Amino acid sequence: MADLEIRNLHVKAEDKEILRGLDLTVNKGEVHALMGPNGSGKSTLANVIMGHPNLEVTEGEIIYKGEDITEADPDERARLGLFMAFQYPVAIPGVTIAKYLRMVMNAHRAARGEQEVPLKEFRQTVEAAMKLTNVPKEFSSRYLNDGFSGGEKKRLETLQLALQKPEIAILDETDSGLDIDALNVVANGVNEVARDAGTGVLIITHYQRILHIVKPDRVSILHNGRIVHAGGPELVDKLEAEGYAWITGTNEPATV
Ligand SMILES: Nc1ncnc2c1ncn2[C@@H]1O[C@H](COP(=O)(O)OP(=O)(O)OP(=O)(O)O)[C@@H](O)[C@H]1O
Ligand SMILES: [Mg+2]
Repeated sequence: MADLEIRNLHVKAEDKEILRGLDLTVNKGEVHALMGPNGSGKSTLANVIMGHPNLEVTEGEIIYKGEDITEADPDERARLGLFMAFQYPVAIPGVTIAKYLRMVMNAHRAARGEQEVPLKEFRQTVEAAMKLTNVPKEFSSRYLNDGFSGGEKKRLETLQLALQKPEIAILDETDSGLDIDALNVVANGVNEVARDAGTGVLIITHYQRILHIVKPDRVSILHNGRIVHAGGPELVDKLEAEGYAWITGTNEPATV
């Protein structure tokens, strides 16, 4: 059985059916790319995996490590080792990135019944994670309420991923207008964390560029709430060359 297995998932938001019988698996140590036209349901899938309260599962299930988590609350999912792209925290005046990361780390340790991380160990862990993901050192002394740009948020997210080393990470990259440096940070971070910690990654992106660096093991294409194509990295090239028209059956310009 796969580590994360989604079976025949039907999901509604405000009485609108968005996912309509979706099947998908993610395994530890693999990078699985999820692509699909705008509005096909990719972010909805990411949100429902993490237990978003506004989404209603009407049929099907989400199985994680053999356990049915379809109805589990978001905290429980995080404790079990699922990670969703950084949720931008409420701006807390006077809290630096380093302090925030330490709070997150200690919350995870407390959930596992472990003691707080000693300062020295924390510093070493953050330094190693920064090196691994190529995030500049100055970053950790910035304040959470500083007003981060989209690209900076992504760097922070990648750093958090490298620190937490979750078993499965869901990364929704859709809305981020990344410059080439930030894009490299994200893509290399995903590669390193997948290789270093064996994290399984479901990466949702329109950027073929990310997928040229990350090189997914598998690619699935979502259309109208269902997976309509699954294959290897060659699908990325096909989408790049042909857009989504061969999937959606229209001749409209592709919204890749
Ligand atoms: N809370 C909600 N209430 C009503 N409709 C919703 C809600 N959330 C999502 N939808 C609708 O569900 C459809 C799928 O949205 P979703 O955000 O999952 O698409 P997406 O594949 O992530 O698109 P994009 O590539 O643009 O990010 C859209 O038509 C969207 O308007
Ligand atoms: Mg989206």
